[in-house]
Amino acid sequence: MDNTVGKPLDRVDGRLKVTGAAKYSAEYPLEGLVHAVIITSTIAHGSVTRVDTQEARKAPGVLAILTPDHPPKLARDPSKKQKPQDRFVHVMQTRKVDYQRQPVALVIADTLERATHAAALVKIQYRESKAKVNLLAERSRAYTPKPEAMNGRQADLVQGKAPTVKAAAQVDTTYTTPYEHHNPMEPHATTAVWDGEKLTVYDATQGVFNVRERLAALFGLPPENVRVITKFIGGGFGCKGSTWAHTVLAAIAARTVSRPVKLVLRREQMFGPVGFRPETHQRVRLQAQKDGKLLDVRHEVLTATSTFDEFIEPCAAVTRILYASEQISTSHRAVRLNLGTPTFMRAPGEASGSHALECAMDELAYTLGMDPLALRLRNHADLDPETGKPWSSKSLKECYRVAAEKFGWARRDPVPRSMKDGRALIGWGMATATYPVHRSKAGARASLLPDGRVRVVSGSQDLGTGSYTVFTQVAADALGLPPSQVSFDLGDTQMPQTPVSGGSQTAASTGSAVKLAALALRDKAIALAVADTASPLVGLKAEDVRVDNGQLVSGGKKDSYAALMKRQKLDSLDAEADAGPGKEKERYAMHSFGAQFAEVRVDPDLGEVRVSRWVAAFGAGNILNSKTARSQMYGGIVMGIGMALMEHSVVDPRSGRFITQDLADYHVPVNPDVPDIDITFVPENDPHVNPIGVKGIGEIGITGVSAAIANAVFHATGRRVRELPLTLDKIL
Ligand code: MOS
Repeated sequence: MDNTVGKPLDRVDGRLKVTGAAKYSAEYPLEGLVHAVIITSTIAHGSVTRVDTQEARKAPGVLAILTPDHPPKLARDPSKKQKPQDRFVHVMQTRKVDYQRQPVALVIADTLERATHAAALVKIQYRESKAKVNLLAERSRAYTPKPEAMNGRQADLVQGKAPTVKAAAQVDTTYTTPYEHHNPMEPHATTAVWDGEKLTVYDATQGVFNVRERLAALFGLPPENVRVITKFIGGGFGCKGSTWAHTVLAAIAARTVSRPVKLVLRREQMFGPVGFRPETHQRVRLQAQKDGKLLDVRHEVLTATSTFDEFIEPCAAVTRILYASEQISTSHRAVRLNLGTPTFMRAPGEASGSHALECAMDELAYTLGMDPLALRLRNHADLDPETGKPWSSKSLKECYRVAAEKFGWARRDPVPRSMKDGRALIGWGMATATYPVHRSKAGARASLLPDGRVRVVSGSQDLGTGSYTVFTQVAADALGLPPSQVSFDLGDTQMPQTPVSGGSQTAASTGSAVKLAALALRDKAIALAVADTASPLVGLKAEDVRVDNGQLVSGGKKDSYAALMKRQKLDSLDAEADAGPGKEKERYAMHSFGAQFAEVRVDPDLGEVRVSRWVAAFGAGNILNSKTARSQMYGGIVMGIGMALMEHSVVDPRSGRFITQDLADYHVPVNPDVPDIDITFVPENDPHVNPIGVKGIGEIGITGVSAAIANAVFHATGRRVRELPLTLDKIL
């Protein structure tokens, strides 16, 4: 039997999803379920002076209205963090208003319509203070963030030494990236139900165990009294990686009315209390020799965070590792504004940071009169520039070669406006992609059932990325079973503990645990067989027994999982395993790398940009499923096209409110915006990263995309637009 890992196995949950049988967090029809609607602030800074609920309370179906007049009791102050990645949540403990669309009251009623109607009848008065929402205007207040806010990284870092030779060329430019919101198809949603002192929440989250811990702490419960279930998620992109106010409010509401409560954020409420990618202003100064060798790289980041909490977009982290240079100096500064707290959004730091660095590299190539790809090859980092360590594996040169050849890069005339097709200006641009390899401790349990099938479970989450499918494949190969004989389940804190599905770490973390648990189960079954006098394998050496297609095989003799279970009269044979990172990061630097090549067609009269062709290659370790992996790259590149050309959350400077608040105003790419995308995974066998050789593919796809497009737009038009998104008003 062939191995299934790597094969384009169809999603094992695909049928459930397309038939509507897959249950999302707002789809649990619990007995007595009622509905909560959040009321959010209409000022950006100040306080709630009066909440008039008189009329609302009389409205039909209303069960309770929660306001800051009677702050819900919690065991812990939700403004205090237990872990640096926890979020300060506004759940009516204070009258203070820190940003627009902050939750300020909650209405619970028997139907969604009645809750929505009653919410409209609640009258809230505010005392308004001046709101500060303009990053550049406030830049004199910029501060240096502490490492806790930067995932342990230093805000400022100088690597190497000042160059002793004089530079032949320099670029010194500033790039701007705007606020962006995640907008998964499924908005945030929580269904909460109490049973005495036990709380169950169905929550659209990327991390069931993080939600459990946070809720347990806030309600003063032992963690085992809180169960978090997330079977299906309609996209996350990072915004579902934290426990936000609505999850806590759903649990408060359910406790208040002693009924199960469902709380779903409306689309415009996605533009407030659940995070976003912050605006950045990034100055990049590159100095190089005539032959392109980098002498001095500087990357200075200015970004926004909130007044009451802290998240810093670590844009310059990518510059610390991407190219070799005699000196690399990076810094981050942040300004506290009256906005919600920003958060992780697909490749936080790398997506916006690589935009600036990779556009600057293109500008340097033009300054030097060098090919942009040749400039990158000239500065290829053979060792990690930040730590000096060798890479666990790195296929970047092969990615450049494969993608450039498929794209036809050698035929590019570098002169701007030189390539045309009829009226259309054609532009070709490229950029490097990269993302770090992460892994955290995870557990899994595998059980052999009486019919010889295996059930594997692990807490974990499937954001729509294919976790169910790839873990089925990993377990099947380890056990010598066809995937049809393995069922995999996840998304429940009653299963073995796993980390948050963020930082592209789920396949590496949970996948390693699944493999170890499956191997442990296989070995248990083999040990039983060779000790079983009724087994054809009795007395044979365990280490000589192979597993294939449900059979245990050694020296021409065979037993099977099913026969073994029957003879042993077992209901279940179980094995559990934990897999955690070891000391591998002490010896190796671990990153995925890739190359992005874009073709754009620009209308010379209208300034309209169309991405007409895409070729990319990635070295991302072992690919568990070529179909779901390709889909991750499509998704990343499509999101990058959105970042380049349209995504922009606009803050109204008077009200401090994001005025792009639905998918009519906040544009994301649709089918006509997306060309054929040609993806190659360069084979990469990395024995160092983890037991399954996986590097993670959730985020690398978006990195370098907006830069490749901006560089292509320059090539097409001769216009260097340094402010995203590249809308036609900036190009004309
Ligand atoms: Mo990802 S932005 O780490 O969910």
